[in-house]
Amino acid sequence: TRHAANPSRRHFLRDDDLTSAEQDQVLTLAQAYAEDRRGHHKALDGKSIAVLFEKPSLRTRVSFEVGISELGAHAVLIDATNTHFGRGETMSDAARVLSRYVDAIVIRTFEDTRIEELAAAATVPVVNALTNHFHPCQVLADLQTVRQRLGHTQGRTLTYVGDAANNMAHSYLLGGAVAGMHVRIAGPFGFTADRAILAQAAEIAARTGGSVTEYTEAKEAVSGADVIATDTWTSMGHEGDGLDRITPFLPYQINAALLAHADPDAIVLHCLPAHRGEEITDEVMDGAASAVFDQAENRLHAQKALLTFLMEHA
Ligand code: CP
Ligand code: NVA
Repeated sequence: TRHAANPSRRHFLRDDDLTSAEQDQVLTLAQAYAEDRRGHHKALDGKSIAVLFEKPSLRTRVSFEVGISELGAHAVLIDATNTHFGRGETMSDAARVLSRYVDAIVIRTFEDTRIEELAAAATVPVVNALTNHFHPCQVLADLQTVRQRLGHTQGRTLTYVGDAANNMAHSYLLGGAVAGMHVRIAGPFGFTADRAILAQAAEIAARTGGSVTEYTEAKEAVSGADVIATDTWTSMGHEGDGLDRITPFLPYQINAALLAHADPDAIVLHCLPAHRGEEITDEVMDGAASAVFDQAENRLHAQKALLTFLMEHA
């Protein structure tokens, strides 16, 4: 298994590393943090947390650094291009070293095998701040946003349109299923979700009262949905992959015409950064249904709650 070297250690590498009850606990705490931002300033008193980036970031970097500081801990921000990561030090050796200095490791990286190798050798919790396959901290913030706007996640329908093969798509599948949501997903031919992750999400949904459904037509996928989400058509690392990442995606753009098929009270999510005029129009992004800036704010609260939870269970 993924955590064989360290079975008692709690990591958050994928959305389904939290059970439904644990996810609920984290989201409840996240909301308490949102309502009293300075009220828990000792939760991680005196701890140090390494936050490593092998890809660019605005939200993740700032929300972790500020959140860690608000909990009374110290964040050690590491731009991995200035470490030995790119020049041959193994993730495993880096994990063993970092575990002797810090109380948790947050990392944004490429292949999931990199974070798995790090977690297997770490003796402190490891948190996924985005990999090629998952972005679970983002989806925690998204689920918090759904709770704020729609009261609860259980039984709500979330439709993701766009690059269904990317990290956000996979995290919506798993995280949404854990939250008891009906997750619908639609993307162009050749940009569909990983079969194994889709199957795992369906298995989870069967237990939580949710469901997982793939669509080809965006309109059909959005029909009557409570939450409509999208993400960039070109994820980090795919800029030069030679694929046409515009033309086949155009029918999946979130615009007013597509949104008209959703529930009249539907909300719109985008993890940002947005490419306005591509996957989402200005009209929708700045319109009444948009929750994208609350969603961005919730990164802070959700990650504070996650770190608090992982430290308590470490
Ligand atoms: N949504 C998100 O993770 O943004 P950054 O890449 O700016 O961290
Ligand atoms: N899917 C995007 C998310 C950015 C936050 C990427 O991986 O680049």
